[in-house]
Amino acid sequence: MTVHFIGAGPGAPDLLTLRGRDLIAACPVCLYAGSLVPEAVLGHCPDGARIVNTAPLDLDAIIAEIVAATEKGQDVARLHSGDLSVWSAMGEQIRRLKALEIPFTVTPGVPSFAAAAAALGAELTLPGVAQSVVLTRTSGRASAMPSGETLANFGATGATLALHLSVQNLGHVVEDLTPFYGPDCPVAVVFRASWPDERIQRGTLTTIEGLLADDIKRTALILVGPAIGAEGFTESRLYAADYDRRYRPQSADSPWSEWRHGDD
Ligand SMILES: C[S@@+](CC[C@H](N)C(=O)[O-])C[C@H]1O[C@@H](n2cnc3c(N)ncnc32)[C@H](O)[C@@H]1O
Repeated sequence: MTVHFIGAGPGAPDLLTLRGRDLIAACPVCLYAGSLVPEAVLGHCPDGARIVNTAPLDLDAIIAEIVAATEKGQDVARLHSGDLSVWSAMGEQIRRLKALEIPFTVTPGVPSFAAAAAALGAELTLPGVAQSVVLTRTSGRASAMPSGETLANFGATGATLALHLSVQNLGHVVEDLTPFYGPDCPVAVVFRASWPDERIQRGTLTTIEGLLADDIKRTALILVGPAIGAEGFTESRLYAADYDRRYRPQSADSPWSEWRHGDD
């Protein structure tokens, strides 16, 4: 009996790993975070599976479901949206499972920031523009931010910011970031990336609040930074014709040439 934590991806049922899909299909019990995992993903569950939406349950009740399944000898698929490494509440569940000596596995998923970037057709790290992506959020009802993790601190780096759980705080985001990125800095809000009703709103730090539809209150990612929609960036050296690299050595004297034509 094993609990399989599975990153269920951003929403589209075909944006799961094959491993995740196969584990869901093999588990007679599926616990899913219903506020963000859409029903379409549950189509991978086997016929007759016990499928429980954990959105209304507290941690004790979720663990009770898991214990009940393991007492029956049943494997459990535990689904959280996106990837499990960020804002999944997997950590506290794993701590309980370890105390109860219940085995578990973890299968990563497609994170929502990657799905949002895909929806925009955007690379978040462009040469000479931004080489870092900060995955962060603003404080909400359930979680205060640690004191050093302010938008001002992250904004001072000029990195691309991927703001989760924050669309309801868009005004504060604009206010805090404008001094660092400037009023014309591009911003994109992606609502329900990969869902059938996905929506994209592009703007700048000055315009985005006025442009965003009133009904976008949750399940949206805010991407901020000069890399969003930038066109005038330099090309990377990686594919430059004169770039001496491992798989495309420019001369017999190249250190990579030796590496390539040696014992490999
Ligand atoms: C509790 S966090 C979960 C994050 C998730 N573990 C991940 O890897 O992206 C929920 C937040 O993720 C973002 N999010 C999740 N799914 C999304 C989607 N399909 N489109 C846009 N944002 C999404 C939103 O900012 C939402 O408020």
